[in-house]
Amino acid sequence: MRTTFLLNGSEITADTSPTTTLLDWLRDTQNLTGTKEGCNEGDCGACSVMVTDTDGARALNACILFMPQLAGKAVRTVEGISAPDGTLHPVQQAMIDYHGSQCGFCTPGFITTMATAHLNGETDHDTALAGNLCRCTGYAPIIRAAQAAESAPVPDYVRDAPHLPCFEKSSGGAPQARGADSPPTTPGTLATWMDQNPGGTLVAGATDVGLWVTKDFRDLGPVAFLNRIPGLAGVTVSEDEIRIGAATTLTDLHAVMAEHHPSFAELIRRYGSVQVRNAATIGGNVANGSPIGDGSPALIALGATLHLRSVDGVRSLPVEDFFIDYGKQDRAPNEFVEAITIPRQRDHLRCYKLSKRFDQDISTVCGCFWIDVQNGEVADIRLAFGGMAGTPKRAARAEAALRGMPWTDATVASAMQAMTRDFEPLSDMRASADYRMETAQNMLLRAWLEDQGQATNVLEVSV
Ligand SMILES: Cc1cc2nc3c(=O)[nH]c(=O)nc-3n(C[C@H](O)[C@H](O)[C@H](O)COP(=O)(O)OP(=O)(O)OC[C@H]3O[C@@H](n4cnc5c(N)ncnc54)[C@H](O)[C@@H]3O)c2cc1C
Ligand code: FES
Ligand code: FES
Repeated sequence: MRTTFLLNGSEITADTSPTTTLLDWLRDTQNLTGTKEGCNEGDCGACSVMVTDTDGARALNACILFMPQLAGKAVRTVEGISAPDGTLHPVQQAMIDYHGSQCGFCTPGFITTMATAHLNGETDHDTALAGNLCRCTGYAPIIRAAQAAESAPVPDYVRDAPHLPCFEKSSGGAPQARGADSPPTTPGTLATWMDQNPGGTLVAGATDVGLWVTKDFRDLGPVAFLNRIPGLAGVTVSEDEIRIGAATTLTDLHAVMAEHHPSFAELIRRYGSVQVRNAATIGGNVANGSPIGDGSPALIALGATLHLRSVDGVRSLPVEDFFIDYGKQDRAPNEFVEAITIPRQRDHLRCYKLSKRFDQDISTVCGCFWIDVQNGEVADIRLAFGGMAGTPKRAARAEAALRGMPWTDATVASAMQAMTRDFEPLSDMRASADYRMETAQNMLLRAWLEDQGQATNVLEVSV
C-alpha cells in the first residue's frame, strides 16, 4: 500500500504492508533510529513523533501508528526537531540547560512531545507529558526545561504547513494524499467495502488494533482505514443534538465537551495520554465493546444514540442497548458505527474515573451520572457504570430508588444499598469485587456531596 506524506520536511512515498507501523518503518528502512521502541503498545511515549495535518500538529505514538494513517500528513521525528544547520530547537537546548535528560531512550520522545506542545503554545506540561515515561531524571528537571522554553519563538522549520503538496484537499475538506491507493473514501463506499469484506478490519485510531499487531502478531485480513473517510470525523452542534462522527478523536471531542458537558471533558482528560487521545476515536472506543472503556458510560448517562450504517441503510439505537453481553454487541458484521448523537439538554452530568494512576490508566470503575433535580426531587436519572459488569451498564435498581424521591442523604443511602442488587462485579488485577462495589456506591455519595457544595477531591492528584 502506497502512502505519501512529508518526513522531516521532504515528501516521501512509502510502499508498505497496511499494518507496518511508522516506528518499524523509520527504524528499519530510513535509518531514523532516534525514535525508540520502549513498550510497543502506546504506553511509554519513547516513540513519540510530531504529526501535522490540516487540524494542526499533534504528538502521536509511532509504535501503534500504521503507515496508511499518515496519508497526506507531515511527520517530524526527533531527527527533524533541530534546524537543518544543526542548531538546537529551544526545547532541546532547555533540556540540556536544565538537566532534563539522562538516557537516550525516553529523551527523544520527550523532545518531540515538548516541541509539539511548544508549537501549539501549550503550557500545561503535566498534561502534555503524561504519555512520556521517565524513570531516571524524574519529571522536575523536564518540566523546568519545558517552562524555560515557553517564551522562545517557534522555529519556522517545524511548522509543517498544510499548503504543501501532499496536503491537497479533497472536496470534503480533509487531507487527501497523492499516491494513496486505498478505497473506501466515503461512508457509502465503506458500507460497500464492509459488505464485500465480511472478515475485514476497520482501523480508526489503532489504539486497540495497533496492539493486536504489535503484541498478538495478528493478521488483520483486509483493512479499511477510517482516516481516509472525511465524512466520518467531526462534530456538529445543532439546536437539538450534538452529532459526533465515529472517527472523531478524543482530543477533538474534548474540545466540544468542555463547552457542553465539562465533566465529560474532564473524564476525557484522564483518558490515556495526549498521544493516545490524539489517535483514539470515540467510534472505536464504543465499537470495541470494552466493559471498561471510558466513553460509553458517559454517552449512556447522556442518553446518546448510536447510528450504525450498512449497505441496507442506517440503524439507530440507544448506546446502552448496543452492549448485549461481554464481547457481544448489537452490530451486524457488515455494519459500522457512523455517528453518535447526544440530545441537547441542560448539563446534569457528573463523571468519575477511578484508576490506579491519575494519567494513562484504564478505569477500575468509571461512574457517569445524569441527575436532574427539580424542586428538591429527582426528576430524571441515569446512572451508568464501566468496570462493574461484562458491559457498560446502568444501575437500574439504584435509579429506581432515586427517581421521584427527595434528593437527600437518606435517599442516596437507600440507592447505594439498592446498587448491591444491580451488579456482581468481578475481582481482577485492578480491584476486588468488594472494592469495586464500595467505590461505585461512594461515587454516588460523592455526586450528592458535591451537589451540597462539599469539597470531595482533596486526594485527587491534579496539579
Ligand atoms: C496506552 C493506552 C491507553 C488507553 N487508555 C484508555 C483509557 O484511559 N480509556 C479508554 O476508554 N480506553 C483507553 N485505551 C483504549 C483505546 O484507546 C480505546 O479503546 C480507543 O478508543 C479505541 O479507538 P480507536 O480509534 O483507536 O480504535 P481502533 O483501535 O482503530 O479500533 C478498535 C475496534 O473498533 C473497531 N472500530 C473502530 N472504528 C469503528 C467504527 N466506526 N465502526 C465499527 N467498528 C469500528 C475496530 O475494527 C476495532 O475492532 C487506551 C489504549 C492505549 C493503547
Ligand atoms: S514504544 Fe512505548 S509508546 Fe510507543
Ligand atoms: S532519562 Fe530516560 S527514562 Fe528517564
